[in-house]
Amino acid sequence: MSVESVLVTGTTSGVGRALLDLYARRGAKVISVNRRRVAELESRYPGVRFECVDVRSADEVESLVRGLAQSAELPDVFILNAGVNRVDNDATFDRDAFQSVLETNLYGVLNFVEPLTRLAPLGSPRHIVAVSSMANYVGNPYGLGYTTSKRALTTCFEVWSRMYAGTDLIFQRVMLGPVPTAMYTMQRSFPAWMGWVKDVFSTSLDATAIAIARFASSRRRRLFHPWRSVPLYCGLWLCQRLIPGFFRGTKTLAGEARREPPRGARRERTG
Ligand SMILES: NC(=O)c1ccc[n+]([C@@H]2O[C@H](COP(=O)([O-])OP(=O)(O)OC[C@H]3O[C@@H](n4cnc5c(N)ncnc54)[C@H](OP(=O)(O)O)[C@@H]3O)[C@@H](O)[C@H]2O)c1
Repeated sequence: MSVESVLVTGTTSGVGRALLDLYARRGAKVISVNRRRVAELESRYPGVRFECVDVRSADEVESLVRGLAQSAELPDVFILNAGVNRVDNDATFDRDAFQSVLETNLYGVLNFVEPLTRLAPLGSPRHIVAVSSMANYVGNPYGLGYTTSKRALTTCFEVWSRMYAGTDLIFQRVMLGPVPTAMYTMQRSFPAWMGWVKDVFSTSLDATAIAIARFASSRRRRLFHPWRSVPLYCGLWLCQRLIPGFFRGTKTLAGEARREPPRGARRERTG
């Protein structure tokens, strides 16, 4: 299938921006959904339709989807890419920040799914692509909200891809490994060795956009990209299970509460 029309969320930077560029160059009809207007993008891609929508708002997303359906402009492919990551796996944990990560990474996708599943059956297939993460399997060592949101997102898409199999709605999930973007480089708190390992296994933005676009044109349910980072995550998974204290002390994630144990009690090893 060649994609004639595509909607991509979060195109102001990173993976979304690379997808916008790729589809626009290929002459696809692109709807770019961002929470803010970026004049530079709008002038660079005059043929693209820019929608200013915060994916966390169910009402804004629903009115966008309904509007597209009513004007018969519903795209063939929805790439639900917008996401955030915050360092919150330590004593700075903040409920509101945690919630906003879930609202973006999880509900920011579900907000599209619900109105799409409520539409009367469509004459042609619609691909709904969630951009998840391989960190899902081992836990992002600094992002509790991030890990939680991506695990839930992956589970939902795993279930829906089976539930809707054979219908006009095709649920697909992308399990991304490291890609050098703003989100990737924010994790300066990584120990040096982890940054180095990540760099070795990471892939370019262009290669990522091409892989996602190819996958979105297929009916496959899951994409691991890049393949060469799969051993990295398998290795991390094994290390977590075999080495006590891997990732600075707790079983799956990095943070330490930095509280003293009660007097007279020995600190429990959880690794
Ligand atoms: N980079 C990696 O190593 C990696 C690995 C695995 C998975 N991923 C996933 O890949 C996706 C893209 O991430 P990236 O690395 O390209 O990060 P990025 O460069 O930080 O881009 C994130 C995009 O999401 C947008 N966004 C955030 N909150 C939004 C909201 N409420 N409504 C609309 N747009 C919103 C951002 O817009 P603003 O400019 O307005 O903030 C930005 O355009 C994410 O889902 C991420 O979890 C990335």
